[in-house]
Amino acid sequence: MVGVTGMPGEYRLYQDLAGWWPLISPPDQYAADAACVAAVLGSAEIGVREVLDLGSGGGHVAVHLKDRLALTLVDLSAEMLAVSRLLNPECAHHQGDMRTVRLGRTFDAVLVHDAVDYMTTEAELGQVMATAFAHCRPGGIAVFAPDHIAETFQASSGGGGSGDAAGRHASFREWAWDPDPADSWIQAEYEFVLRAADGTVQVVRETHRLGAFSRHAWLRLLAEAGFHQAQRFHQAQLSGQAPRSDQAPGPDPAPGPDPAPVSGTAADAGGGPPRNLFIGRRPA
Ligand SMILES: C[S@@+](CC[C@H](N)C(=O)[O-])C[C@H]1O[C@@H](n2cnc3c(N)ncnc32)[C@H](O)[C@@H]1O
Repeated sequence: MVGVTGMPGEYRLYQDLAGWWPLISPPDQYAADAACVAAVLGSAEIGVREVLDLGSGGGHVAVHLKDRLALTLVDLSAEMLAVSRLLNPECAHHQGDMRTVRLGRTFDAVLVHDAVDYMTTEAELGQVMATAFAHCRPGGIAVFAPDHIAETFQASSGGGGSGDAAGRHASFREWAWDPDPADSWIQAEYEFVLRAADGTVQVVRETHRLGAFSRHAWLRLLAEAGFHQAQRFHQAQLSGQAPRSDQAPGPDPAPGPDPAPVSGTAADAGGGPPRNLFIGRRPA
């Protein structure tokens, strides 16, 4: 079956295939991302306890944070929320669009992990930042972890998968490429091979459109949303090396290799911390 490029709410991966998500992209692969996020949350001006996770998917980041944080999980997909509820029954779950959802309350911090990849225009990314700002307490922090940014994007392929005790097995291949470097999105081609417990195998191909904004666009949009000290966070800041942050507003840094490239994304079966973290701080 071949999927076409559609809107996030139309992707089969997050609808009828959602039950395969824990096998396609297992929770243990998010441990390093979650540890990095926890460390960044700890740098907020206020103590962080209540966290809103926008685009929480199967709750694979949340599962590593819920012992120390009170998490509220929001996702567009009812099917993905159902998967997350099984893993994280103690967390609050809401169906909503990260661009427009308003829960009528604030949190110490807002996390938008790799689901932010599904924002492909600056207008959409700005909407998500406005949502984050609206839900962020004074002194709080918003953390975004896009898989791709324009300056460092390179066509790549990868894959992964796993099985479960019931005899199901999922594997996938991913190939990401950029049809037009002049725009703000890239394309990911997926092929999933899914073997059910009864031995039935289905092969599903699907094309996703994913955002790849410049650093400057990220920092500018964070500042426009009202966040102060918008930063691009580097892994070096966690490991005690010299910190390097791109402050906003400012000139677009010259394209070049990421000084601290690290792996670890939702669907690429990575194991390290996130490649990119952008941080917005709401003044107290
Ligand atoms: C790669 S998955 C997220 C995986 C997640 N990090 C986890 O821990 O399992 C992307 C998720 O983004 C969600 N999504 C895409 N667009 C969205 C939107 N506009 N609002 C809320 N969720 C969205 C999808 O439904 C999907 O669950």
